[in-house]
Amino acid sequence: MKKLIFGNFKMNMDLKQTEEYIDLFLPKVASSKNEIAVFPAFTNLMFAKQKFTASKILLGAQNLSAEASGAYTGEVSASMLKSVGVNYVLIGHSERRKLFLEKNDCINKKIKSALSQGLKVVLCVGETKYERQNKKYKMAIEKEVVDGLKGLYENELKNIIIAYEPIWSIGTGVLPNGKQIEEVVQIIREEISKEYSINAGKNIKILYGGSVNSQNARQFAYVDGISGLLVGGASLKADEFAKICNI
Ligand code: PGA
Repeated sequence: MKKLIFGNFKMNMDLKQTEEYIDLFLPKVASSKNEIAVFPAFTNLMFAKQKFTASKILLGAQNLSAEASGAYTGEVSASMLKSVGVNYVLIGHSERRKLFLEKNDCINKKIKSALSQGLKVVLCVGETKYERQNKKYKMAIEKEVVDGLKGLYENELKNIIIAYEPIWSIGTGVLPNGKQIEEVVQIIREEISKEYSINAGKNIKILYGGSVNSQNARQFAYVDGISGLLVGGASLKADEFAKICNI
């Protein structure tokens, strides 16, 4: 079955490095059956889009402004992303939540802004190590899902993907087991069923992210209920990410 394999480059690679990467990467994934999306820095989006024209690779942004336009120095709007051919946008990544103090209401506003321009959203949720150890993860994840999606209509959920990224696993090499992921998948589906409908809960796509590499990608991608992977560190090497894309 086709999986969604998304690579979040974070704040890595300048234009030249992006070019070298894409030149290496494209031929390696030319026959992949999976849906692949690459999330480079803002400055490389347009260039990457041009390089991807003859391929099926989709383009994602790592962030956007909650505002539509105006006096917001340094911000980039949904319509700007749309205008350079962006397909997906990451919202609520734990690094944005922690380092840039993004709260659920801001994340909710960003989601609405992205959807209004026809962008697809990858909403990242996940618990801290403390929340996991103290059995508070269910509450934490439910809140991020419910508050993040507040006010959305059920028909908008087709443009939302949830990425479950346990914060204690991001960039650490510490891995959850299949049962732990399945449990969270269940929590997310139940919450969406409660807020919308059983069907909505069943149909929402959920990715796993956190220390995915070419060795463990298959094991995570095929956890029950998981539609694909959000890959950080291991997406930075074209060869390694291509292996993941070809599972
Ligand atoms: P990682 O990052 O794969 O390096 O753990 C995942 C992410 O932050 O999306």
